[in-house]
Amino acid sequence: MPDVFKKVYIETLGCQMNKSDSERILGILSHFGYEPAKSEDEADFCIVNTCSIRKLSEDKAYSKLGVWGKIKKEKPLKIGICGCVAQQEGNNLLKRFPYVDLVFGTQNIYELPELINKEERICAVREKPVKEQNFNIIRSKALNAWLPIIEGCNNFCSYCVVPYTRERERSREPQVIINEAKNILKEGFKEITLLGQNVDSYGKDLDFKPTLAYLLREIDSLEGDFRIRFTTSYPTDITDELIETVQNSKKICECFHIPMQSGSDRVLKAMNRRYDRKTYGEIVKKIRDNIKNVTITSDFIAGFPSETREEFEMTLSAFDEFELDYSNTAAYSPRPNTPAAKWVVKYVDENEKKERLAILNEKVKEMSLRSNEKYVGQTLEVLVESVKDGKFEGRTRNNKVVHLTGENIQIGDFVDTKIKKASTWCLFGDKK
Ligand code: SAH
Ligand code: SF4
Ligand code: F3S
Repeated sequence: MPDVFKKVYIETLGCQMNKSDSERILGILSHFGYEPAKSEDEADFCIVNTCSIRKLSEDKAYSKLGVWGKIKKEKPLKIGICGCVAQQEGNNLLKRFPYVDLVFGTQNIYELPELINKEERICAVREKPVKEQNFNIIRSKALNAWLPIIEGCNNFCSYCVVPYTRERERSREPQVIINEAKNILKEGFKEITLLGQNVDSYGKDLDFKPTLAYLLREIDSLEGDFRIRFTTSYPTDITDELIETVQNSKKICECFHIPMQSGSDRVLKAMNRRYDRKTYGEIVKKIRDNIKNVTITSDFIAGFPSETREEFEMTLSAFDEFELDYSNTAAYSPRPNTPAAKWVVKYVDENEKKERLAILNEKVKEMSLRSNEKYVGQTLEVLVESVKDGKFEGRTRNNKVVHLTGENIQIGDFVDTKIKKASTWCLFGDKK
């Protein structure tokens, strides 16, 4: 270990996979003389871990680089860019941002040891992933640990950039994952979230075809008081085995995140999603019939190219029909390399898109309140995660945020809580 530490700051944009990657990047750099900086002001090395899912997220990365470029005029600063925009843009970034020293792709994290001490400006972006190695992981949360199990995507939805930025699906070996889970538990974490762009595709590319359900059962059987979550599920890859596993386990939380994207069959087809509204409904029904108090959340896109107002309204009615508890929403954004961005169809007008998104967000609010109100009067187990001004905050097994009061509560406790009140985004209760 070096005697003098330099400080590295990572700004993480995008999804949980990026958050997990940043924890691994900090871990790798800790072997080479870098410790995490509390803020960008005290850093010797600033990295932006980027997201390319929408133009807005890509632009956020560039404005961060702009800020650091100005700082670099005043003092020495190493600037890096990684993540999905780096994978997509590669060398262009070195040309466009003369103050950037290092560009590395989503598949190059484990190449960092060879990259960080180079004098020249470098772009390391490959399609072939660099093999994972055993380095530290510096986790950002105290109680909740991300555990990536599968990376990449084979689905090629017509709007989505992910297959181009994360490449094809690659599952980590079950034993590697189980060992990581054991380490996480040894370190005192209370919640493990298994991550993947399509978590329910897990194992299809491995020799023995282990399933997500198998992996969940293995982790469920580890000793200790903890919760297990998994995200994101592709609707038609949810198997009976998975539903039964969640139903029969004590530690796996009753939550399914199953993006539907649109309520219209024609739009789903144009999106290249491999299910229709009826099939989505059947999957949701099967889950609800078998798992009590389950939360089902989704993602929807407003204003997909050629989406009519009637088709958009079918998305709204899907919320009611399937009693969705919550959804992420986004206005369609054309992305590089994706088929939808090249179509010669009628794109939805920007203002109309904005209006649809606002309507969609109102619907999400309505559904979230409706879902939360169901729990008033019930007693739910809350994992206490933080405290502010004597008020505790935590989450239920089905991922509802709860503000709770009571005697002898500690962060990290599982507390049975009587729910007194519901609002749109959270519940209020007292320790029982
Ligand atoms: N693998 C997951 C989604 C990952 S991307 C799945 O298949 O469901 C996260 C979400 O971003 C998507 O569910 C989608 O709703 C949204 N998204 C992806 N590409 C988009 C685009 N071009 N414009 C707007 N939203 C997009
Ligand atoms: Fe994107 Fe579709 Fe893959 Fe999800 S399944 S990451 S939306 S291409
Ligand atoms: Fe964004 Fe890449 Fe995740 S595009 S959503 S950071 S996989």
